[in-house]
Amino acid sequence: MQAGRQDQVLEVASGRVVLGDNLDAARTLSDASIDLIYVDPPFNTGQRQRLRRIKTVRDEGGDRVGFQGRRYRTVELGQAGYDDVHDDYLQFLEPRLVEFRRLLKASGSLYFHIDYREVHYCKVLLDRIFGRACFLNELIWAYDYGARTKRKWPPKHDNILVYVKDPDRYYFDPDAAERIPYLAPSLVGPEKAARGKRLTDTWWHTIVPTNGKERTGYPTQKPLGILRRIVGASSPPGGLVADFFAGSGTTGAACHELGRRFLLVDDNPEALDVMARRFATIPAIEYATHTPTSILDGSAT
Ligand SMILES: C[S@@+](CC[C@H](N)C(=O)[O-])C[C@H]1O[C@@H](n2cnc3c(N)ncnc32)[C@H](O)[C@@H]1O
Repeated sequence: MQAGRQDQVLEVASGRVVLGDNLDAARTLSDASIDLIYVDPPFNTGQRQRLRRIKTVRDEGGDRVGFQGRRYRTVELGQAGYDDVHDDYLQFLEPRLVEFRRLLKASGSLYFHIDYREVHYCKVLLDRIFGRACFLNELIWAYDYGARTKRKWPPKHDNILVYVKDPDRYYFDPDAAERIPYLAPSLVGPEKAARGKRLTDTWWHTIVPTNGKERTGYPTQKPLGILRRIVGASSPPGGLVADFFAGSGTTGAACHELGRRFLLVDDNPEALDVMARRFATIPAIEYATHTPTSILDGSAT
């Protein structure tokens, strides 16, 4: 326990959303207080992530043609974005991962979401921090969206590394996640075909539909369906789940649906705006700006 850290269990009734740097925030929390941590840090793409938020309005001189030939004009509502540049990505990650491990209960798990460019370096780093025996899975989330280069096999997957705090005590309930259809149902018989099969470590799942209801407008928003599986299988009902790179708050939305409590941290005020809109109808969500002691008692505003 570091000097100055409050030795308190994090009390979150339903959900807490915190604006602040995640390392500072994590350092104020007590050891072994969290059931599940999911993180989706910037992928070190060396670019500023940007997404235009637009709406279309009816306009006879507009540049878009829609249903029944009606014309529309595009109005830009603004841009959401955050920096995805780290001089030394692993140096940025390491102290954070050390804190995340400390925060997990003995039964806890860390899901670390990354892509093919950095996954190997991150695996070696995580092996060092957690121990190789604590590595549980590498999940492959495969999707089918975007351009297909002809210069190489088009990359269409993300990687999610799963580590547990204690390989003899971790919580895992694969039956809490949905079952999926057999590829060849006629080969397994009607009963099995109707039940579907358990998920493996390779998940086919669409990206967040570009103009569907789920879309928040935040860049790199992850699908709720992916987070439902993670939260359902790796945290107990009523448990506390944290996401320290929360973005649009997908982890919180999954927790709310599944009856888990959540702590979400992001250092980008735009992310907090998006989360406030996303959670507007959920009662008793607390919002705070991180100061060294505020995250525990929720006293800051
Ligand atoms: C890839 S996005 C997360 C997207 C999220 N999974 C979702 O579904 O919307 C990464 C987020 O990490 C945040 N971030 C980057 N560095 C951070 C830091 N040091 N502390 C807190 N948040 C940080 C960024 O602002 C960004 O919102």
